Amino acid sequence: MKKHNFSAGPCILPQSVLEKASQAILNFDNLDLSLIEISHRSKSFVSVMERAQELALEHLGLQDKGYKALFLQGGASMEFLMVAYNLLEKKAGYLDTGTWSAKAIKEAKLFGDIEVIASSKEENYNNIPTGFTVPSGLDYLHITSNNTIFGTQMNDFPETDCPLVCDMSSDIFSRVLDFSKFDLIYAGAQKNMGPAGTTLVVVKEAILGKVSRVIPSMLDYKVHISKDSMFNTPPVFAVYVSMLTLEWLKEQGGVAAIEQKNNEKAELLYNEIDRNPLFKGFVVNKKDRSKMNVTFTIENDALKDTFDTMCAEAGINGLNGHRSVGGYRASIYNALPIESVQVVVNVMQELEKKA
Ligand SMILES: Cc1ncc(COP(=O)(O)O)c(C=O)c1O
Repeated sequence: MKKHNFSAGPCILPQSVLEKASQAILNFDNLDLSLIEISHRSKSFVSVMERAQELALEHLGLQDKGYKALFLQGGASMEFLMVAYNLLEKKAGYLDTGTWSAKAIKEAKLFGDIEVIASSKEENYNNIPTGFTVPSGLDYLHITSNNTIFGTQMNDFPETDCPLVCDMSSDIFSRVLDFSKFDLIYAGAQKNMGPAGTTLVVVKEAILGKVSRVIPSMLDYKVHISKDSMFNTPPVFAVYVSMLTLEWLKEQGGVAAIEQKNNEKAELLYNEIDRNPLFKGFVVNKKDRSKMNVTFTIENDALKDTFDTMCAEAGINGLNGHRSVGGYRASIYNALPIESVQVVVNVMQELEKKA
């Protein structure tokens, strides 16, 4: 039987997607050839790329609004520097809300002046900072909508007079937002979209072409746009599985329908964390709690081994917290069924009875 997969990324994907992807490895599009042995310029693959781009924009409600969807390589980490390469002329603002934000800041500092507008680093990133003002005249403001490691998520997005850039790697396609507030969104595929190997970049074309530096072709969003993400050989398998997952999302009723399910899953687990005296949530303010990565600790360390054994026996995988936080992290991405969350809750309740 398949395990209950709470991995933070790469992570659970819909079973139907895995089955279709396996089939395509053997015989893609009735070509009697594998998906990974045909040309990326073939009609069959070009349709995959086009469909993936179209679905990404559709799910975000950004069709016909001046945005392009790109499937690039190098992970979200490559976007830490590509964003700065393409947009930073003098000064950009960053919100420092976790390890990934900090890494984005480090890379951007190679290209210009960076102002950290607010940070929760001193509190080990257990909250989303509030009460800050964004100065005017920045080249862009960079934020991270969901902090995968610490389990915090932004619900209010700052108003700016500059382009708003968002790393949505761990919550893209999980909830309805007004995505037109963002000028550039990027996300590594390996959470809600597909396997590792491709990164979705959704960018408003009008913000590009404003920096004076020369940009190497592979790092230039305009080059990738002009070649429809085919400037070089794209990661065909990752793009194909992303397309299948975006189709699956559409079959589920789209982002609005999946958001409801995500809310139910998060509520079920957070209610148990709050109710059960053996557990404690990591995030201080309830309003900052992530609906994708639920972080918690066990109050009595002596119970940890028993809990771990019980989890393993129940077929639970990937519940360990990140080494910088400790404790537990349940990543409850789009494809994770509520039944899996219920299994964790049951184990938490059994532990309470035993303790
Ligand atoms: C929010 C966030 N940003 C960036 C990254 C880095 O992604 P990648 O490993 O694709 O470079 C991750 C990885 O987990 C992440 O969760």
